[in-house]
Amino acid sequence: MDTVIAPRDERTQPIRIVPGYPQTPWRNPGEPLVKRAPTLSELTGPLEVAKRVQLLGGDIAGRGEKQAIGQLMHLRLHVVDEDGSPVGGTVVEIWQANAAGRYIHPNDDDHAPVDANFYGAARLATDETGLLELRTVKPGAYPVPTKDGWWRPPHIHFSIFGRVWLSRLVTQMYFPGEPLNGQDRILNAVPDAAARERLGARLVPPTGDPHNALVYEHQIVVRGRKATPAQP
Ligand SMILES: [Fe+2]
Repeated sequence: MDTVIAPRDERTQPIRIVPGYPQTPWRNPGEPLVKRAPTLSELTGPLEVAKRVQLLGGDIAGRGEKQAIGQLMHLRLHVVDEDGSPVGGTVVEIWQANAAGRYIHPNDDDHAPVDANFYGAARLATDETGLLELRTVKPGAYPVPTKDGWWRPPHIHFSIFGRVWLSRLVTQMYFPGEPLNGQDRILNAVPDAAARERLGARLVPPTGDPHNALVYEHQIVVRGRKATPAQP
């Protein structure tokens, strides 16, 4: 098989070991990588993930009396491939902290309150134009449990399957202008400023939603030179 896979771009992808971020040493290979040809299953699969998993959570901001606390926001996420073509029918898993900066996860034992009306995760598929829409609340910042008082800025996590295993991407989306962005060790582990900028969502005029949500648009490029940087 003679498929050429572009090598990892060290400028636009995060450095592997992030100083002050204790998890990175065991999330990255400790030995030099071994090059091998991709197999057919990596080049053609997985097939029709959207039909094999349960999709849930297009609206995670609450309904009726059970509204999540926080700034209501509507996210329009576009998934495209390296030449800008929409990646339709791809599954995107999404998770985020609540407005107080707390995840609903047993590993999160921060002091910030859990919101009983906010679960904080969704699994959606893009339509044929590569678009998916999510109604949620803007996540809060949260402290990282290290001794030096480091806080993560508001962000949303995505896991994207793309067309095939080789375009699978795990990344995060940030909110431009947040004061904590400039000191975030994960965001700033991407050396190239333009690549870091591609991790920021764009605030756009409201769409007439009856609840007047903040509307953000964001584009994720799953492969190629302008690929969205991976984020742990
Ligand atoms: Fe996070």
